[in-house]
Amino acid sequence: MTIEVPVITIDGPSGSGKGTICQLLAKHLGYHYLDSGALYRLLGLAARRHGIALDDVEALAVLAAHLDIAFDTTDKGVKVRLEGEDVSRDIRTEDAGADASKVAAVPAVRDALLHRQRVFVQAPGLVADGRDMGTVVFPLAQVKIFLDASPEVRAERRYKQLIDKGESVNLAALVEQVRARDERDRTREVSPLVPAHDAVVIDSSSMAIEEVLNSVLLIVSQRGIPAWGL
Ligand code: DC
Repeated sequence: MTIEVPVITIDGPSGSGKGTICQLLAKHLGYHYLDSGALYRLLGLAARRHGIALDDVEALAVLAAHLDIAFDTTDKGVKVRLEGEDVSRDIRTEDAGADASKVAAVPAVRDALLHRQRVFVQAPGLVADGRDMGTVVFPLAQVKIFLDASPEVRAERRYKQLIDKGESVNLAALVEQVRARDERDRTREVSPLVPAHDAVVIDSSSMAIEEVLNSVLLIVSQRGIPAWGL
């Protein structure tokens, strides 16, 4: 008899709060966490470092298949490594996000990264964060959430994060960047950012993080998903 490992997918645009919710949920349940966006960010960074153009589809696919990456869990969170080097900060810039969105639109890249994402399914369970977790990567997931928020609210959240980090940013420019990235992610031909037909859609525009987490936990418990972290 095989025991099914529970998978909870949370998809949505950047700034919807899904990264925070996924990490809190994974901690609460004692599950593993897959940050699939980090894979695309790492690929964009690797391409830049190896001098590969972001529209060189063949070279990007080869790079994706051989990407030397590691996620190390430490007391201070997850350290992301590219070819042995800690690049946790480098992959979080606005430019790295824009690069990730470009390489993520390449079908051969998505194919190459599919298997790498599926190996994260390990007992006692997985919380998967991304854009196509519920539609393409884990179509049989037991719980699928699509977390959304208005572009203005998402840009404002990002603005606060960047100001807190001491960076100088322009809110109007951020709203435009958010809209441009949304447009690219939602209209691309492969794995566009859309809710799975069986996903529960939550609009977090006027919700606090705790409210969103409680809503997700309620859905998880209603589906009888076991928790190990309590
Ligand atoms: O979640 P994030 O901001 O780290 O994602 C960066 C980019 O990667 C985002 O613009 C779209 C892309 N992405 C994707 O296409 N599919 C995923 N499963 C995760 C991210």
